[in-house]
Amino acid sequence: MIPITRAIFDESDLAIIQEPLKSGWVVQGRFVKEFEDRFAAMARAPHAVAVSSCTTGLHIAMAALGVKPGDEVLVPAFTWVATANCVEYMGAKPVFVDIDPRTFNIDPAQIERYITPRTVGIIPVHMFGLSADMAPVMEIAQRHGLFVVEDAACSFDAWYQGAHTGTFGDFGVFSFHPRKAITTGEGGMILTRDAAQATHARTLRDHGASRSDLERHEQKYSFLLAEYHEVGFNYRMTDIQGALGVSQMAKAEWIMAERRAAAARYDALLADVEWLRLPFRHPDYVHGYQSYVTWFRPEDATLEACDAVFEQRNAMMAAMEENGIVTRQGTHAPPHLHYYAQKYGIRPEDYPNAYMAERMSITLPLYAGMTDEESRQVVDALHAELASTAGALAG
Ligand SMILES: Cc1ncc(COP(=O)(O)O)c(C=O)c1O
Repeated sequence: MIPITRAIFDESDLAIIQEPLKSGWVVQGRFVKEFEDRFAAMARAPHAVAVSSCTTGLHIAMAALGVKPGDEVLVPAFTWVATANCVEYMGAKPVFVDIDPRTFNIDPAQIERYITPRTVGIIPVHMFGLSADMAPVMEIAQRHGLFVVEDAACSFDAWYQGAHTGTFGDFGVFSFHPRKAITTGEGGMILTRDAAQATHARTLRDHGASRSDLERHEQKYSFLLAEYHEVGFNYRMTDIQGALGVSQMAKAEWIMAERRAAAARYDALLADVEWLRLPFRHPDYVHGYQSYVTWFRPEDATLEACDAVFEQRNAMMAAMEENGIVTRQGTHAPPHLHYYAQKYGIRPEDYPNAYMAERMSITLPLYAGMTDEESRQVVDALHAELASTAGALAG
């Protein structure tokens, strides 16, 4: 069995998660703080605020930036649905922008045609661990006075022109779901350069409280409750998760070296294959390889041809699954999901690259500890299933 990914837990994780249980302090506390400090140092960011997930972190970012009904926020058309949902939470409208099929990320050349007087911000997403092309995104945002919130869910240890993802915009938000390079079960991290926004995010994650429970307990008159100046949420990370975050950070370098080695093996083994377009490589980018996502039969990337490719791709993926090798499509295209398509009257031809990416992408298994032999088995299975499913394309 070769899974799509594998969370890495060892004795150090088992040991550290017992500490909050033994001390009795299991809500947001000193381990969450330590995890924030380590994460900020790794990403070279001044402020890190841990939260219960990337989705809740994105919601906090939208609330901190004052997004309101009637506002429009630009969102790539190929991303996890949470990127668009966080705009809907505020009663605002996500306006989708198609992607660059080479990178799976928002296409900067298409952003400006969607900017209206109601546009307040952009949420570029660093899909699968590859940074969005942030130089033009930031330039456009600055020129139009828009905020930028980076959905950095997948981009742990991913860099663009020497800076970590999540450090370009007003906020950058990461995920620690088990499909990510390091995990706390559920969990997220907000980065920001702005001290006032960091304080605001800390307040919003904690019901709007002016000081945290830990601060209150450590001070004299701990019986006095905090002040509440605004409506906040309970989006705190527990200290059990924070402890796991600390031990995961301690082995992150090894995990990332392993993931990059596995990606390099695929790059080498698939270098001569024309029917798969491999993940984008460019000297400006250090890919984090949250996922190794390929584009199947790129030569057939038209709306007319892609349905047949979709059939063959699914037949291949089903056959591989039967042989114990798990693959996935890259992600989905929110504008084509029922809720968004219905609400905003969107058709496939409005976002053709996102539509095709959903139907033509194949994610290959990738995890720390993956062996040469496992990489070869995946590639051999791809070749074998390509041949046996070729008939699916005949029409
Ligand atoms: C691009 C993107 N944004 C947001 C999320 C949501 O992250 P979480 O599950 O931590 O809320 C994900 C999760 O996979 C994602 O891939």
